[in-house]
Amino acid sequence: MAKSEPLHTEIGDFAVPRHIAIIMDGNGRWAAARGLPRGEGHRRGVEALRRTVRAAGDLGIGFLTIFSFSAENWSRPAAEIRELMGLLRRFIRHDLADLHRRGVRVRIIGEREDLDPDIRRLLEEAEELTRENNRLVLVVAFNYGARQEIARATRRIAAAVAAGDLSIDAITADTLASYLDAPDLPDPDLIIRTSGEQRLSNFLLWQAAYSELVFVPTYWPDFDRAALESAIIEYRRRERRFGGLVARTGS
Ligand code: IPE
Ligand code: IPE
Ligand code: MG
Repeated sequence: MAKSEPLHTEIGDFAVPRHIAIIMDGNGRWAAARGLPRGEGHRRGVEALRRTVRAAGDLGIGFLTIFSFSAENWSRPAAEIRELMGLLRRFIRHDLADLHRRGVRVRIIGEREDLDPDIRRLLEEAEELTRENNRLVLVVAFNYGARQEIARATRRIAAAVAAGDLSIDAITADTLASYLDAPDLPDPDLIIRTSGEQRLSNFLLWQAAYSELVFVPTYWPDFDRAALESAIIEYRRRERRFGGLVARTGS
């Protein structure tokens, strides 16, 4: 396992959120600001991802979910989609061994059915190889949309009812949560979106019910360990009440 770098002093002894989810946005604008093609922004975005996964592991974060490709991103030009798929293939081929060495467990959420068979195999290989790791769980949301995930869960629930395995009266919010793509994961404590946009864009709508949202102006290719730590510091200033009266600071 890689040796941990010393922690940022401001983070120091504080507890970090257990689960951080990131909407990695702004690759195209990063490139446009430099007169570069959008693909260059995506390539630099992969480097930011590597830095962030390493920092998350060093900070002791348990779960890191990254929004890599949305169900709606298919509406982009075919050439950009090809580039994004190529980057995912390369990321898994080049980085999987290193992630495995660092004790990272890879999980995938999203619809796998419509993906190219080779991409599906790579994603499954990543999950299989790293199954026993427990230093950091890296959840890759790929071909992911929260409404589609909730619809998938509803279909599974309907099938269970039709098969006589579940009674309609027994369906609660917890039931629905248990039919989502990765039901064993805790809800994200903190959701970060880069690039200045302030929306969820169909990301983790169910799981985000009580997440703290932090929007940062940085374009994703410029995101680094210091930016992650600042977002965590902002999170720690928040009071989480979960509908009650007792304020809990982020932990
Ligand atoms: C995020 O950057 C990457 C993906 C959505 C795949 P964008 O490609 O959305 O970059 P902007 O938002 O156009 O700057
Ligand atoms: C959200 O970013 C999806 C990912 C980061 C993968 P988008 O760039 O697709 O979102 P919108 O279109 O600005 O809402
Ligand atoms: Mg965008």
